[in-house]
Amino acid sequence: MKLTVIGTGYVGLVSGTCFAEMGNTVTCIDVDAKKIENLEQGIIPIYEPGLEAMVQRNIENKTLLFSTDISKNLENCDVAFIAVGTPMGEDGSADLKYVLQVAADIGKYMTTPLIVVDKSTVPVGTADKVRATINGELKKRNSDIEFHVVSNPEFLKEGDAINDFMKPDRVVIGSDDEAATTIMRSLYSPFFRSSMDRLITMDVRSAEMTKYVANAMLATKISFMNEIANICELVDADVNKVRIGIGSDSRIGYSFIYPGSGYGGSCFPKDVKALKKTAEEHGYSPRLVKSVEDVNDEQKFVIAKKVIAKYGEDLSDKTFAVWGLAFKPGTDDMREAPAIYIIKELTKRGATVNAYDPKAMEEAEHFYLKGTPNVNYFAAKYAALENANAMILLTEWKEFRAPDFGELKKQLKSPVIFDGRNQYNDLKLNAMGFEYHQIGKKT
Ligand code: NAD
Ligand code: UGA
Repeated sequence: MKLTVIGTGYVGLVSGTCFAEMGNTVTCIDVDAKKIENLEQGIIPIYEPGLEAMVQRNIENKTLLFSTDISKNLENCDVAFIAVGTPMGEDGSADLKYVLQVAADIGKYMTTPLIVVDKSTVPVGTADKVRATINGELKKRNSDIEFHVVSNPEFLKEGDAINDFMKPDRVVIGSDDEAATTIMRSLYSPFFRSSMDRLITMDVRSAEMTKYVANAMLATKISFMNEIANICELVDADVNKVRIGIGSDSRIGYSFIYPGSGYGGSCFPKDVKALKKTAEEHGYSPRLVKSVEDVNDEQKFVIAKKVIAKYGEDLSDKTFAVWGLAFKPGTDDMREAPAIYIIKELTKRGATVNAYDPKAMEEAEHFYLKGTPNVNYFAAKYAALENANAMILLTEWKEFRAPDFGELKKQLKSPVIFDGRNQYNDLKLNAMGFEYHQIGKKT
């Protein structure tokens, strides 16, 4: 098929490239000319394992093209995907300005029948707004070209995006038109070689809702476990053992019950808020969803509170080595990363932070921690430890999992670790002379 993907960020680039890999011809559009110029040369704007090679291969095969010009890329296109951002608006709702701008462009420039797909995460009712916007533009030019709006939310996670897209747990297609559903099914069928059961079709509004509910459910599991961690600490239980104890029940499962420094990223925080807002707009006050958010807002500060409890409010003569800045491993994405909140909390009290992250340092230095005083960036993890009062682990990158603890002890001023992701064995560390603080277990 001939596809156009509008918005070439995480979702647009991964989806476009994976569709190209399956033999479709895909043009990815973006308003960011520099991004498109780089992509044309096979340089990708994000760190995502495996993506750059796949992009380059499909550029060579001429199955993946890039452009800044939507007006020339809708003709004879079978499906156009809207994959632009839906950031949090001032009132907490999803800001649809980019989505509706693209809808207006589609209405202005489409010349042949088209299936328009909302792939961005959008609140219930957005497909109606997209349809109305396209119709408005078509009317202006007295055109009645046929089109259908389909909802096809994306469930990929950063760091494992290619795998998630190529081997999806499920694909959700919300469509009110049978012919459009058939085209979408045939587009996705190569991704389901053994069974098509996981290609789930439903009405548009339920598909739009499914995306928010999936993210809110995952965020709920995390906040629940973080709350339990805080209780465990008070009653002298070990949340790591409790986690294994409950996860072994197949009805609960092991995934997404790891306590830590709270969830971050470009999606959980904004999507939980947007779901709450949608409910409120319909006259319902969602207590559980609100609590998920409240627990997370506080959880981001738990590690900073532990540091302050040990060293006091004035940290002006203290230096902390921070290992991990990205909101999770496998990405350079710093959006809503707990590290931002924790580092600001410590430097606000005069502390110096020596930071190291395998991929997210540029993002941190030039955007998310820009202007934050007393933050130094180190090119290697052990170098960041030198003369620091303690090491604080905030992202569980694989390279932090089994470090040389002897080296850690040698470099640090005193052998103290604050672990915001519960990566280490406390008994082993205590035996080596470390003071080890973690989430959900008394030190
Ligand atoms: P992003 O910010 O990485 O990318 C959005 C891109 O759209 C940018 O490159 C921007 O320049 C471009 N853009 C904006 N307006 C445009 C226009 N009028 N025409 C063409 N391009 C335009 O965003 P993202 O992380 O890819 O997220 C996109 C959507 O997908 C969001 O709704 C998000 O919630 C959802 N989502 C994201 C993920 C994820 O892991 N990042 C996963 C699932 C769903
Ligand atoms: C999440 C979802 O997992 C994807 O399915 C979804 O498509 C995406 O949001 C989206 O809508 O954008 P992502 O944000 O990339 O993906 O990352 P996750 O792996 O879900 O992690 C989110 C946050 O939760 C991270 O900060 C992570 O550290 C935290 N987390 C995750 C925990 O604290 N504990 C866990 O057990 C799991």
